[in-house]
Amino acid sequence: MTLNIVILAAGRGSRMKSETPKVLHTIANKPLLGHVLDTAAALESGNTIVVYGHGGEHVRQTFAESALTWVEQVEQKGTGHAVLQTISALDDDATVLVLYGDVPLLRPATLEPLVEKAAQGPALLTAVLTDPQGYGRVIRDDKGLFARVVEQKDAGADELRVQEVNTGVMAMPALMLKKYLPRVTNNNAQGEYYLPDVLSMAVTDGFDVQVVTVDDAIETEGVNTRAQLVQLERAYQLRQVQTLMAQGLGVADPARVDIRGTLTAGKDCFVDVNAVFEGEVVLGDGVIIEPNCVIRNSTIGSGTRICAMSHLEQAIVGASANIGPFARLRPGTELADKTKIGNFVETKKAVLGEGSKVNHLSYIGDAVLGAGVNVGAGTITCNYDGANKFQTTMGDNVFIGSNSTLVAPVTIETDGFVGAGSVVTKTVGQGELAIGRGKQRNISGWKRPEKNK
Ligand code: UD1
Ligand code: CA
Repeated sequence: MTLNIVILAAGRGSRMKSETPKVLHTIANKPLLGHVLDTAAALESGNTIVVYGHGGEHVRQTFAESALTWVEQVEQKGTGHAVLQTISALDDDATVLVLYGDVPLLRPATLEPLVEKAAQGPALLTAVLTDPQGYGRVIRDDKGLFARVVEQKDAGADELRVQEVNTGVMAMPALMLKKYLPRVTNNNAQGEYYLPDVLSMAVTDGFDVQVVTVDDAIETEGVNTRAQLVQLERAYQLRQVQTLMAQGLGVADPARVDIRGTLTAGKDCFVDVNAVFEGEVVLGDGVIIEPNCVIRNSTIGSGTRICAMSHLEQAIVGASANIGPFARLRPGTELADKTKIGNFVETKKAVLGEGSKVNHLSYIGDAVLGAGVNVGAGTITCNYDGANKFQTTMGDNVFIGSNSTLVAPVTIETDGFVGAGSVVTKTVGQGELAIGRGKQRNISGWKRPEKNK
């Protein structure tokens, strides 16, 4: 069976009060439309057609990499009119599924039964709501079978009491859509071409419309306002954290973990409050993330603790390491096992061997450190001369005294030792002590200045 998926995304989204087209607003850093495209991909859509209108160029550019068919709907005359624009792009032998660019949380597992049923005839996804206000109501006949959808503005008092609503999501054989859609009129309260009218046409011709009802109506909720966007973001985040908890992740508060990408965690990891994970983050076993950390595209080895207020980006941290509090690991940081990066330390393109420590107030950039290195407080690698970047290299067991300035390119060989406060500009040979600082002079009989009277 071929599946064609039509995604409606032509609406203005004026209630967002934004210059950004609605479907480009994000949940978990991904555009709403991106979530829908992921669902389409999971369903193995053979042809995905996006109906665009307002802000269309921007939307198209954003998804230029994806294999999509773009169809413009110049004037928005209703959902039926929107799907009608795609008719010539639909494969005759396909089942057509209609989704919405502003309904991001629908899961493939919810749609699979709908698509299966639609191979035979029309199928509609409905939801039962305590407050159905604004939605099209699903009207059933005396046998309980689907009869039609009536829009809020066209409904009578009895119909308005119906709590089963049209989610808008439906599927049917392409030929059926091609037959009925051109016959839909705009003879209704809104003067719009209503897509659900194809369903009542099918019923009139003797077809049964199969109905699938969603378990959790949040899945079919759309985004019209920023308040709804936030509501769906929270629902999405909770869903992700609950999935990870079911796989064994410990968290202090599922409402205070945000995953904007993919988090993979080994056994017995624990994430304290206000953690933000972005991109691809992989944790080994027993990793502890203390409060208020941001971790982006990083890998953290087993038994490592990321202390509070740390910020990691494109970093690889080995096992049994200790990072922070207040550490900043920038891209290209690679820390071997048992390393320590302490408070107010920034690293960038820094490779540290096993057991090496940079514990306080340092900048280590463009540097390769061996194993067992100890970098004293306040040490700075001067990697930049205003035009170019240069490398600092340290062998194993190097000791850098506090407040040293290492002017790259420079090498401190194995067992090299740098006295505190040194400015190092030349190679320190193996086992040598380097002291590069002004000599201390003590002047006796010194009189302190006195305050002017
Ligand atoms: C529609 C349904 C209603 C259902 C509700 C669920 C119709 C006639 N009504 O109502 O039964 O309960 O969705 O949310 O289908 N769009 C276009 N082009 C258009 C019109 C709409 O692309 O010309 C897109 C919009 O971007 C939006 C979606 O279709 O994503 C729904 O359109 P909207 O006008 O919000 O439909 P509703 O009135 O909410
Ligand atoms: Ca709507």
